[in-house]
Amino acid sequence: MKIAMVGSGYVGLVSGACFADFGHDVVCIDKDQSKIDRLHQEIMPIYEPGLDALVDSNVKAGRLSFTTDLADGISGAQAIFIAVGTPSRRGDGHADLSYVYAVAQEIGDSLGHDAVVVTKSTVPVGTGDEVERIIRSSGTPHRVSVVSNPEFLREGAAIGDFKRPDRIVIGAEDDFGREVMSEVYRPLFLNESPILFVNRRSSELIKYAANAFLATKITFINEMADLCEKVGADVQDVSRGIGMDGRIGAKFLHAGPGYGGSCFPKDTLALLKTAEDYDSPTRIVEAVVKVNESRKRAMGRKVIDALGGAMVARGRKVALLGLTFKPNTDDMRDSPSIAIAQALADAGVQMAAYDPEGMEQARPLMPKVEMCESPYAAIEGADAVVIVTEWDAFRALDLDRVRSLVKAPLLVDLRNIYNPDDVRAKGFTYESVGRA
Ligand code: UDX
Repeated sequence: MKIAMVGSGYVGLVSGACFADFGHDVVCIDKDQSKIDRLHQEIMPIYEPGLDALVDSNVKAGRLSFTTDLADGISGAQAIFIAVGTPSRRGDGHADLSYVYAVAQEIGDSLGHDAVVVTKSTVPVGTGDEVERIIRSSGTPHRVSVVSNPEFLREGAAIGDFKRPDRIVIGAEDDFGREVMSEVYRPLFLNESPILFVNRRSSELIKYAANAFLATKITFINEMADLCEKVGADVQDVSRGIGMDGRIGAKFLHAGPGYGGSCFPKDTLALLKTAEDYDSPTRIVEAVVKVNESRKRAMGRKVIDALGGAMVARGRKVALLGLTFKPNTDDMRDSPSIAIAQALADAGVQMAAYDPEGMEQARPLMPKVEMCESPYAAIEGADAVVIVTEWDAFRALDLDRVRSLVKAPLLVDLRNIYNPDDVRAKGFTYESVGRA
């Protein structure tokens, strides 16, 4: 089966490479000539574990190719995916759909055969209707079905998530759409991944509701963490204790500095806008967005307090370990580290940082932070070491070496990756999240 993937960013590229790996014939299309040129040389535009090898083997097998020419790329494709960005529109938080609609227009103008057009981009409820209207208004004589098929990929684990999904959601309005999508996902279906067929609007909402729910779960445990600190409880134990209840579930109950990334912040805001447009307030999500925003800066204050308060903190040096919003990505979008670095800079704190993949993207976002070659270089002479992102490389730091390099042995672990007793036994003052 031939599949066209319009948009070769994170979602498009991972999905395209995985579909090719299933045996489909995939063309990834992007307007960005330099990105396509680099893909031809097998230089990945993003850091995602396993992606380069997957692209390499499927290009070599002749199942995966890249082009900037949309008309040529979609020619003969039974399924044409739209996987372009839907960033937050400046000023109002609405998802910016201009790229999606521009692609729909181009597809309508150049379609030469019957096809199913699939929105994989995260789009607000009703977008599929508009995509269909745009394509039909081009006057195409061919049979077109517009389907919604949201992605649930986590950065850093995207290939595994694609190949072993909890579920595949297909929002289709007719049999043509359902049949082609069944064929697209047949390899996963044979692997017994559940496929949920729903109507298009339900599918569009499922994506936002899933992300808003996960963001709520994280924010809930983060507030519990604050309470744990006050009452002398341990949030790790509280998480385990509630997560063992099958109705709650153990995942996404890890307290930390607040969620970031390319999805949760943008999608929760867009859901609020949809709720507002339809006059159906989602007050829980409103609270989640506010609590998470203030939490990120509060983490900066936590570090300042650990240093002994604002008066003492001024002029002190802090080492930030990890800058990306989570490990195994180079993505800095809405990372808590940005707000933390800002709060520390405002308090006159000097900063050095190390991140295994994110420093290039981080540099322009935090100009006052000195980027270092290794965690130990960042730690040298520090009055506090702060673990911001739980990269594996920070899980087993040589604490004796850290101790010998720092000016003061203070470790602030915003991801709870250390055992407090172990760290204290090495002579450190240890602060973490939700553990008194
Ligand atoms: C998320 C969704 O998981 C995915 O299904 C969707 O398609 C895109 O958005 P992603 O943003 O890549 O994926 O990362 P995820 O692993 O979900 O983490 C998001 C943020 O929440 C990170 O900042 C992470 O550190 C934080 N988080 C996650 C927590 O603080 N605690 C947790 O228990 C889980």
